[in-house]
Amino acid sequence: MSTFKDVPIKNVQDYWNARPCNIRHSPKPIGTKEYFDEVEVRKYAVEPHIPQFADFPSWKGKRVLEIGCGIGTDTINFARAGAKVTAVDLSKESLELAQKRASVFNLADRIQFFCGNSEELDQFVPVDKYDLVYSFGVIHHTPHPERVIKCIRKFMNADSELRIMLYSKASYKLFWIMKEECVWDMGRLDELIARNSEAQTGCPVTYSYTFNEVRSLLSDFQIIEMQKAHIFTWDIEAYKRYEFKKDAIWANVSDEQIAELEKELGWHLLTRARLAV
Ligand SMILES: C[S@@+](CC[C@H](N)C(=O)[O-])C[C@H]1O[C@@H](n2cnc3c(N)ncnc32)[C@H](O)[C@@H]1O
Repeated sequence: MSTFKDVPIKNVQDYWNARPCNIRHSPKPIGTKEYFDEVEVRKYAVEPHIPQFADFPSWKGKRVLEIGCGIGTDTINFARAGAKVTAVDLSKESLELAQKRASVFNLADRIQFFCGNSEELDQFVPVDKYDLVYSFGVIHHTPHPERVIKCIRKFMNADSELRIMLYSKASYKLFWIMKEECVWDMGRLDELIARNSEAQTGCPVTYSYTFNEVRSLLSDFQIIEMQKAHIFTWDIEAYKRYEFKKDAIWANVSDEQIAELEKELGWHLLTRARLAV
């Protein structure tokens, strides 16, 4: 996994500034309350494992550090649940929307925002201990994920918890990408995944991980739990029109069967960990 190490961070920043994550989750005017409400409904409808994984209510009165908040869907929910949140993102465009969102919902006093590269987090966020360090779908997009993990440790103590989502290599999404591209060359996985991992093609950096690769990335941590979640079963063209219709290939598969398959082939590798003592 060395293909992305030489990608300049500016390329990553430009990509996410050009199209902040989930920005098209609602057709309503961007920045309005209706827009943010729809973004949230759609995100958690398609990815119901997120609120389960984040478990927002359990962080009431606690300190949460979010790495890569994007336009702030989870950020707002931590704050709403009563957490005191520090949220970081590399993309100024994303962060501006997250900040707007915080003020639209009167939560600005519960969230501190910082713009910067989390590979050097301790250079621009005051080092302090947090109850939760949370990062959903972010660390695999930076050229040096191990630098982020090294920094994160400084913001944790023995009682802190880390919850991160990284993309899973052995996934239905990978097979889908290979089918779409008509490329079955396992030597080109990183390139194929990066090109197709996001709504906007051509992400400059997208690593993906096996369970063992996550264990080695988090070698200084004690893993509490690892699991896979999320197979996108919706018809993509209908989804783009804001309609939810199951893709034909899933028509005869029950929700229970999909849930079983997600444990094996889900695209989101969810890890909970603590610092190793
Ligand atoms: C797929 S989005 C996820 C956003 C958010 N966590 C969510 O679930 O909606 C990835 C985010 O990671 C941010 N990002 C990528 N590399 C980063 C880095 N080195 N430091 C901080 N943020 C970064 C991007 O700007 C983008 O907002």
